[in-house]
Amino acid sequence: MSDTPAFTIIGHRGARGHAPENTLLALDTGIRLGAHWLEFDVQLVDGECWLMHDLTVDRTTNGHGRLDALRAAQIRALDAGGGQAVPTLNEALDLVANRAGVNIELKTWNGCAAAVARVLRDYLADGWPAERLLVSSFHHPELWEFHELLPEVPIGALVCGVPLDWAGPAAELGAAVLSVSSEFVDDKLIRDAHARGLRLYVYTVNEPEEMLRLRRMGVDGLFTDYPDRA
Ligand code: G3P
Ligand code: MG
Repeated sequence: MSDTPAFTIIGHRGARGHAPENTLLALDTGIRLGAHWLEFDVQLVDGECWLMHDLTVDRTTNGHGRLDALRAAQIRALDAGGGQAVPTLNEALDLVANRAGVNIELKTWNGCAAAVARVLRDYLADGWPAERLLVSSFHHPELWEFHELLPEVPIGALVCGVPLDWAGPAAELGAAVLSVSSEFVDDKLIRDAHARGLRLYVYTVNEPEEMLRLRRMGVDGLFTDYPDRA
């Protein structure tokens, strides 16, 4: 993550404040609005990695039910808002084309790590710098599996809370980043992450005053639905 800016703005689900989340339009919008990195969620279903946050398609598309009950052709037919499709990981990476760093969040643990590693191996072979990728998850065993498969790609441990030994779980995973929900950030967590050589990112921060406060506290980056506000 050598060329990552000291304070990193990460477009959340692309730039979901401005475009339907986890779509190609949201990714393109995030880049246009100046995000250094883009975050999106992926799930492995019917042999493909799809960009979707929820386990069901109801909130973000015109479909109904669980994503994993659908076949690839049915997912392709969904409208994710404004005529946008549900993209695959390959389509997302092709769109970004290394114009921003990419943070891929593993949302399922059904072989998702292995499937993402297979896709990323091709992009690395084509010259995408490993340090412009970050794979993260709340599911630390899945993240560990990814790390074992493709150790050259940095990983980020996601937590929604404060572990007993602070940033310890991220260090134990060999992560480069610890990402934490905004309500749990404090000086001690930041200090502990830094002492362990980790970057500390915060999600999801949309108010400019809060962005400034966190930056002054010493966090290294934040996920926002509105990269333009940062
Ligand atoms: O990766 C940061 C953030 O996206 C984690 O939460 O629920 O928005 O995927 P969520
Ligand atoms: Mg996410």
